[in-house]
Amino acid sequence: MHMHKYEKIWLFFGIGSLFVFLAVLGVGAFAQGNQPPSCLTTIDPEKVDQTPPFDKPGLVKTGDNEYQLNIVASAFSYTPNQVEIPKGAKVTINVATKDVIHGFEMAGTNVNMMVEPGYVSSFTQTFDKPGEYVILCNEYCGAGHHLMTAKVKVVE
Ligand code: CUA
Repeated sequence: MHMHKYEKIWLFFGIGSLFVFLAVLGVGAFAQGNQPPSCLTTIDPEKVDQTPPFDKPGLVKTGDNEYQLNIVASAFSYTPNQVEIPKGAKVTINVATKDVIHGFEMAGTNVNMMVEPGYVSSFTQTFDKPGEYVILCNEYCGAGHHLMTAKVKVVE
């Protein structure tokens, strides 16, 4: 079929814009699926106890010298409230709350998170020094706020 020169140009332009549109759409979708999980990990606060990994809170070995520490915060305690970590371990701490906003501060380390209902707060820390670390709630959460503590022991 013979086409007029201008027809060809317009056809080319039309197909070209379609590809640009699809590319923008594709890149947009891709970018959306790649946002950092730290600000996207959501959890139903009413179902924390049934939602992995918080259905079995505690320390989980995930690799060579790598661990995950999953902790449930609720008024006015942490579960578990006593954990032993081998010295030198790289630990990703995940905390979720079942009720109100709590804090999660590990005295003497850089670990300091706000734990909001509906979200999982995460922080990765390597524990090179043996000793005892106290976890404190640093967000006022009610009458028992000052009692809300836990302990991490780093052992050789
Ligand atoms: Cu929990 Cu203050």
